[in-house]
Amino acid sequence: MEQLIVHKLPDFPKIELYSVNDYHDGDEKTDEDMFKGFVKFISAEPFRYWGYTGDNLNNAIKSSVSNVYNEKRSPHEQKEHFIELMRPVANKCLWFVPGNHEARSSKETDSQLVWDIACRLVGDDEARRLYRENEAFVKISFGRYSQHGKNAEPVTYVGWVVHGDGGGMYVGNMVNKMQQRTMAIEGVDFSICGHVHKGKVGHSFPVRQIDPRNDIIRIRSVSNAICTAWADYGGYAARKLMLPGGKGALPIELNGRRKEIEIRVGSAV
Ligand SMILES: [Fe+2]
Repeated sequence: MEQLIVHKLPDFPKIELYSVNDYHDGDEKTDEDMFKGFVKFISAEPFRYWGYTGDNLNNAIKSSVSNVYNEKRSPHEQKEHFIELMRPVANKCLWFVPGNHEARSSKETDSQLVWDIACRLVGDDEARRLYRENEAFVKISFGRYSQHGKNAEPVTYVGWVVHGDGGGMYVGNMVNKMQQRTMAIEGVDFSICGHVHKGKVGHSFPVRQIDPRNDIIRIRSVSNAICTAWADYGGYAARKLMLPGGKGALPIELNGRRKEIEIRVGSAV
């Protein structure tokens, strides 16, 4: 039985969640300065949190499509470099999920790079709680419903996090896929994925929910966030005639006074 990752956070009026995915440490096209600014941005406010959503190491190995000779640092050095980058915000990480780049090493040599990163950043016990090999379901409770006075309950959200798979020329392919997959999970409030390196997308859609206790059908909103990479255009993408993608962090805002999710598509940094 799959366990939810449960987080009880303080009484903030809102929190901002950021998926860290497709940083591709070691790729010469990665904008390292922009990302360093993002880490400072996360640490600047207590209500900003992040999660590891895969492909933060480029991990070009001999059997992969990436060219091992183009890397800025070796796969081992990428892991060490990324750990040092994220150490200042380690205690604000809410999940760890690998992507296909890290999975290359799992397949070839059973090296679990994201598990190693999690253990180093949050310690073994917390890593066991936060790490999921394929997908994570994250329950976040914080704040309190303002309309219910002093003893109000916290507001609770459940998110589904997966690195992503498949491609297509346009981001719309992923939008359709994620809406369809999210609709197959009863009770989820939002989903997060990366992988496509296209534009950042935040979209919400209504679903009908049967409430047998009150004998009514409610409409509730479900949100999908499709997050992007940190790369400048060129290199492999240019050679393969790929379209330029978005860059930077997508802010996912969860409201702590009423159940409401807002996803802003402009980069936070
Ligand atoms: Fe990926």
